[in-house]
Amino acid sequence: MHDELRAALAGLLDGLPPKQAAQAVDRLIANYRGRTPTDAPVLRDRGDVAAYAAYRMPATFEAVRAALAAFAARVPGWSPAAHVDIGGGTGAATWATAATWDGVGSTVLDWARPALDLGRELAAGILPDTTWQRQVIGDGLTVPDGTDLVTVSYVLGELRPEARRAVVDAAATAGSVVLIEPGTPEGYLRIREAREQLIAAGLRIVAPCPHSAACPIVPEDDWCHFSVRVSRSSLHRQIKGGSLAYEDEKFSYVAATRGDAAPAAARVVRKPQLRKGQVLLELCTADDGLRRGTVTKRRGTVYRAARDAAWGDDWPPA
Ligand SMILES: C[S@@+](CC[C@H](N)C(=O)[O-])C[C@H]1O[C@@H](n2cnc3c(N)ncnc32)[C@H](O)[C@@H]1O
Repeated sequence: MHDELRAALAGLLDGLPPKQAAQAVDRLIANYRGRTPTDAPVLRDRGDVAAYAAYRMPATFEAVRAALAAFAARVPGWSPAAHVDIGGGTGAATWATAATWDGVGSTVLDWARPALDLGRELAAGILPDTTWQRQVIGDGLTVPDGTDLVTVSYVLGELRPEARRAVVDAAATAGSVVLIEPGTPEGYLRIREAREQLIAAGLRIVAPCPHSAACPIVPEDDWCHFSVRVSRSSLHRQIKGGSLAYEDEKFSYVAATRGDAAPAAARVVRKPQLRKGQVLLELCTADDGLRRGTVTKRRGTVYRAARDAAWGDDWPPA
């Protein structure tokens, strides 16, 4: 799926001079930087959308895939038949959903027609069971009855507070919901607020939090986020500049369900520190809130598991 997405994106900019693609990315960044939500789509035409897809889609795809993998680990054997991707744009979260489960039927909703058109084009022949539909996020937004999964990725930050509440309310009518935002303090705060809303609507949080009680993080001090490594294709390097072969995409997320699922006992919330004969784990736990654990070599299999643990993993491993 990952390779197919790369191939589709590579074909997308075929024939477009690198300079022109770089200019479109610059325009897009300028549009996004410091902007407040507007009444009109930022992705206005094919140039904007192609730039967005080339510049951001590999990273948003990987972040959503990581969030969905964490959710899927808590609901083994479950898979969604009907999925709705709200503010789905060019379909990164729909690609990630198809990479996580087989046989999903997806509906991508977005107000930007050029994004939907390009998303449809990229997915042609690869995500056949996908419908692309124009929809404004606002009071009238509803999710069809029987929807198993709603994803909302990198959208809440583009919305005014009322629209943000409306989209989370609509998402909360589905069986399960996964929300993803940039892994910044602001992105985390939006996830934190949406998390409260999902709990109030009767859903249970299953990832990343080990419980549905209040988040133990003090927002002035820290923010809950994770990281995923995104390899850069030569196309991506050309568009973004720089020579690094990869970049780390930071993201915040929450996954909640009405189904029969339980969160892990704890989650690794920082990159584990390997010391001589010991591993330091920063954990968010069901019983003790945020806690630092030290696992020494003497603990044998637990120590080996700690050495293998990564930021974002369940703890202890299943
Ligand atoms: C940063 S993009 C994220 C796209 C996609 N979900 C992803 O993860 O790559 C934000 C998307 O939200 C859509 N959007 C923003 N405000 C919206 C609104 N009020 N109604 C519908 N879609 C909206 C934009 O058109 C855009 O496609």
